[in-house]
Amino acid sequence: MPDPQRYAPQVPVRRPRRLRTNPAMRELVAETTLRPADLILPMFVADGIESPREIASMPGVYQHTTDSLLRAAHEALDAGVRCVDLFGVPLPGDKDATGSVAWDPDGVLNRGVRALREEFRDDLLVMSDTCLDEFTDHGHCGLLATDAHGVTVVDNDATLPCYQAMAVAQAQAGAHIVSPSGMMDGQIAAIRAALDEAGFQDVAIMAYSAKYASAFFGPFREAVGSSLEGDRRAYQQDPANARESLLEVELDVAEGADFVMVKPALPYLDIVRQVADASPVPVAAYQVSGEYAMIQAAGQRGWVDGRAVMMESLTSIKRAGANQILTYFATEAARLLG
Ligand code: PBG
Repeated sequence: MPDPQRYAPQVPVRRPRRLRTNPAMRELVAETTLRPADLILPMFVADGIESPREIASMPGVYQHTTDSLLRAAHEALDAGVRCVDLFGVPLPGDKDATGSVAWDPDGVLNRGVRALREEFRDDLLVMSDTCLDEFTDHGHCGLLATDAHGVTVVDNDATLPCYQAMAVAQAQAGAHIVSPSGMMDGQIAAIRAALDEAGFQDVAIMAYSAKYASAFFGPFREAVGSSLEGDRRAYQQDPANARESLLEVELDVAEGADFVMVKPALPYLDIVRQVADASPVPVAAYQVSGEYAMIQAAGQRGWVDGRAVMMESLTSIKRAGANQILTYFATEAARLLG
């Protein structure tokens, strides 16, 4: 045995471990608590399918029929989740250059929103994704145009009226919250004006404010049958940058955002923290498809304890400052918390 006196400390030793001695003590001093009601479940409703379809790269996540959507939403609510976020998957033949089925009251997303609202009234909040990419045949989040030099671009200002029509259609279908995720400049002001004009002053906006052009969205593209070729780097943010997230948040709040969001979550916890420190409105973070897929894949192989990593990642996102977390784990995590 080494001589215990040999390295005798010269300063008094503090003992932080005292507060870690047993579960009761650890619970007493826990700074971060997750609640089922912090979690928002993203869901997919697909047109023209007879039964739910599991998404291969997102085990446990489905493209739903209306019936299975309502069943899964009941399971979420029973576990304590209070909000779902709905994405629509149209028939490939219904996609067009402007994504017009997005604001068709009978389009798949608006039908799904209506079904959820009729089923749950105000017991479960219905949020809907307000973006064109699932509905355009080119897969971009906005309308395409050719600029003065012959380059194809996503036309920011021409896209805004489409978002307005989409948000109003979603509000008419019963959405409590619309969530513009297309990263067009001015989209929050445009949508707020359209909702107010149509009499939907109480419909809230959760702005995807700091949304990065991320490879972690990979599995989502399968989930919604995306038609995108290329990338979204001309409108989503560069992962190298932090500062512009604060500008995006500031603008969205000034334009009327009720919530701001950071997306993805785990690789961007520094952004979550900076936004949480600056934002006067609640801050959501989106644990995206690729984050989910990585945890599921490693868990299924037994390389990590999937459930423990799930809970640790959600706790970390909250510790970084998120008030709400969008996660495909919402129901499972809420059950474990409950
Ligand atoms: C776009 C949108 C995307 C996601 C949510 N909304 C994809 C994208 O921007 O390419 C990704 C969600 C996820 O990966 O879980 N409307």
